[in-house]
Amino acid sequence: MTRHFLKDDDLTPKEQAEILELALELKANRFAHKPFAGPQTVAVIFDKTSTRTRVSFATGIADLGGVPLIIDSGSSQLGKKESVADTARVLDRQVAQIIWRTYSQAGLEEMAANSKVPVINSLSDDWHPCQLLADLLTIREEFGKTQGLKLAYIGDAANNMGNSYLVACALAGMSVSIGAPAGFQPAAEVVARAQAIAQQFGQHIEVFEDPALAVAGADVVTTDTWVSMGMEDEKEKRVKLFAGYTVDSALMAKANPSAIFLHCLPAYRGYEVAAEVLDGAQSRIWDEAENRLHAQKALMLWLSRQN
Ligand code: CP
Ligand code: NVA
Repeated sequence: MTRHFLKDDDLTPKEQAEILELALELKANRFAHKPFAGPQTVAVIFDKTSTRTRVSFATGIADLGGVPLIIDSGSSQLGKKESVADTARVLDRQVAQIIWRTYSQAGLEEMAANSKVPVINSLSDDWHPCQLLADLLTIREEFGKTQGLKLAYIGDAANNMGNSYLVACALAGMSVSIGAPAGFQPAAEVVARAQAIAQQFGQHIEVFEDPALAVAGADVVTTDTWVSMGMEDEKEKRVKLFAGYTVDSALMAKANPSAIFLHCLPAYRGYEVAAEVLDGAQSRIWDEAENRLHAQKALMLWLSRQN
């Protein structure tokens, strides 16, 4: 059975830890492994815009001895003239892996069901699991561990980042507390899934409306844009609904003194995060962005060994 990475809990806690170990090894010795030697191609498909994902996958594939094949779906047949299943059947005879940033999780599942090579979700409407590997790597570097730490996520917790923080951090043995307004809290099914994992580690998942309650005792504070890709028409409405959820220094002061701030980026200063926090001493956003490279290389290397 081909292994894919479509959502955070496609990995067990042990497998996630193995990938983070590999990422640390690759960060220390960037060109140590060449699973794509040949060179083989790896398809990286974009239905949505990107800076970090495009650069880190293209660079990572090259580091691993391969050639990135960047496909903007607007200039391909995918989704318009040709089905996802047929696209998978064409790609998997030629490329070593398929990376896809898209809207629908069902589309990713269809690609995986029809592909003999690993399919990686590089962001869907529901999950952003590659980002979480980078975030967990950043947390490990800072604290030397993930287990037993508490992460607070503030803002739009009904989006891909909210879902992935809940499940990936639970797998890493962390507690997660959400601070989000009514209507933007995570789905009960996702909370239950995270809770079932967190319980195994004696950790907790909590959902609050008050952001101050969520950040109390947190080791990591994080947020994301209030207007995810595809929701641009709702910007005006959302900015009003999220008033009071900006991560500023007053809110950071309620977390642990040693707490760090993360953001997947791109960030909107003055909206979900104040410039004083994003650009301040507790922020680790540039390490986090760099860690996309190391974490995704580890993921691709690990998947190449499973299949
Ligand atoms: N964090 C992230 O995925 O960034 P991009 O949208 O620039 O790829
Ligand atoms: N929630 C954001 C994440 C961007 C990396 C979006 O989907 O646009």
